[in-house]
Parts: sequence; structure tokens; C-alpha cells
Amino acid sequence: MELSLPVSRALLYELPSIVERLELGRLFPEAQPLEVELGCGDGSFLVDYAGQNPATNFLGVERLLGRIRKLERKGRRRGRTNLCGVRIESAYFLEYLLPPHCVRALHIYFPDPWPKHKHRKYRLINARFPTLAHQVLVPGGRVYLRTDDADYFQQMQSVFAADQRFHPVETSADLAAVRTDFERDFNAQGIVTRRAAYARD
Ligand SMILES: C[S@@+](CC[C@H](N)C(=O)[O-])C[C@H]1O[C@@H](n2cnc3c(N)ncnc32)[C@H](O)[C@@H]1O
Repeated sequence: MELSLPVSRALLYELPSIVERLELGRLFPEAQPLEVELGCGDGSFLVDYAGQNPATNFLGVERLLGRIRKLERKGRRRGRTNLCGVRIESAYFLEYLLPPHCVRALHIYFPDPWPKHKHRKYRLINARFPTLAHQVLVPGGRVYLRTDDADYFQQMQSVFAADQRFHPVETSADLAAVRTDFERDFNAQGIVTRRAAYARD
């Protein structure tokens, strides 16, 4: 059984500026390595994973207020001091707000697949994404991906294969065992899900 005390500090960080880069020291009580989930939904994955990894700080990025509020509620209830959420669009956040080379891992799980051909330009993992990831990751930092969409999975693999600065790596069993909200639904319906991971140079 998990024993933790509710947290009193707010876990949702209100950005003081959308043009100046974040001061990470203002987000977490402890200076620790940082991992970021893009499109974190209701925070199910992060709340569980942050509990298993108290010596790491976790930041959830989500554009929908209702969903990020769930991260805040769950995280506070379960006493997560190493967890924080921010409401903003992921690609903008990577490009303009995260300081360079400050992230140990990016988690992107079940990003919107935009299945119609004419909408694929809206996908988060596109030809430009490895450059955005490279800009924020520390040397050796990792990108972890999961999706149920076969076509999107193909695209994820091709964009990283085309970038010499990344190479494929395994996802540890401990990490793979922590499922997201959407993943649980897909698994319950018998829908196949796929995962891949890449490390930067
Ligand atoms: C299919 S859900 C998956 C949520 C969670 N990762 C999971 O696996 O349970 C995709 C989430 O990404 C969010 N999202 C989609 N595009 C986004 C973007 N460009 N920036 C921030 N959040 C985004 C959506 O609002 C939604 O909550």
C-alpha cells in the first residue's frame, strides 16, 4: 500500500511569460533530473511513475485544462512533490520555453494520430520533432514513444531513423509496466499498442 501525505503546494504551474524560457528552479522544491511528458492527459502515467522515481522531477504538458487539472488533483492526493503540470501546446513549449539541454527523457504516449491524410501535418512527431527534442535533451537523453496507430508508428520510426543524432534503444521493463490512461483502455479493448525509444548523441 502506498503511504503518502497530500501536498499543499499547487502542482499546476502558471507560466509567468510565454516568450521567456522557464526558470526550472521555480517549478520544483528539489533540483533533480527532469523528465517531461508531452500530452500527458489526466496524468495517470506521471503520477504513478513519479511515485516510483522520487529522485527525478516530472513535468506534464497538456493543452486541455480539464485534463491537466486531473493531474493536479491526483498528484496532490498522492503526495507527489516531484510532479508539476503546465497548460500549453507541446511543440511551442519545447521550442521556446524549455531551456536547452535540461531534460533527461521525453515521454510521448498516444499522441493524437490525426488519421485523415490531409490532417497529418498536425502530428506532433513529424520531421521537425527530432530537432526540437535534441535541443532540450541532455547528451544521452531519451525519447519514449507509444501509439496504437500503425501509420503514426511508421512515421515515428522514419523520422528518428532519418536523424543521425539519435539511435534506437530498449524501453526498460519497469518503464513499460507503467501504463497510461489511454493505454489501459486500448489494452482492455484488445487493441495492439506499439512502443519505441531513441537516445540522442
Ligand atoms: C490521446 S490523448 C493521450 C493522453 C495520455 N498521454 C495517455 O496516454 O493517456 C492525447 C493528449 O494529448 C493532448 N494534446 C494533443 N496535442 C497536444 C499538443 N500539441 N500540445 C499539448 N497537448 C496536446 C490532448 O489534449 C490529449 O490529452
